[in-house]
Amino acid sequence: MASGHLTRRDLLLKCVSLGTLTLAPGASLADVLAWGDPQAPSARTPTAWDELGPFYKRDAPHVAELRAPTDAGLPLTVSGQVFDTRGRALENATLEIWQANDAGLYDLDGYRYRAALVADRTGRYAFGSVMPGHYPGRVCQHIHYLVQAPGCKPLTTQLYFATDPVFAGDPARNYRKDPLIYSVDLVRPVKLAKTPAGSAASVTFEIVLERA
Ligand SMILES: [Fe+2]
Repeated sequence: MASGHLTRRDLLLKCVSLGTLTLAPGASLADVLAWGDPQAPSARTPTAWDELGPFYKRDAPHVAELRAPTDAGLPLTVSGQVFDTRGRALENATLEIWQANDAGLYDLDGYRYRAALVADRTGRYAFGSVMPGHYPGRVCQHIHYLVQAPGCKPLTTQLYFATDPVFAGDPARNYRKDPLIYSVDLVRPVKLAKTPAGSAASVTFEIVLERA
């Protein structure tokens, strides 16, 4: 280089060529170049599976706002990003979501509180809804997900809320009170904000798919 200054990439490649940096079995040159780079994707644990449940319906509408202005319930925004286990954002991943309304009822005749979303270029998705109600037969409030992306295994899972009274403020200790919660990682913190209309909750839920 004209300046005599090596870039990080040049330095790593030089170290490999001189043998001062060697590759462990299974490591690739791409792993070396990603080493120490804060922008590099990093390995992620696959999101835990959860049951599909009996209320899934195909062909949900492509809508990002599930809540009608007059709907009862705490307004809720859910957002997140979809990755593979190597940390690469999955552009165009599809997320089907469905949930009970504030009263704990699923719409079995139509498509209220059901949607199909497509993640953007950076794997991001978001939707507006209400905090789902409890209903007989299930212990905890939840939102169902079916997530798919080309080259990845489809994932059915469920999102839970750390504020659910069932957890008594301690999801790590109490999440098994709902026998269908197989991982505490599915229980997400809730951020509550004041709005002109009252209060609103928001939750982030990252999804990590395994490669097929
Ligand atoms: Fe459900």
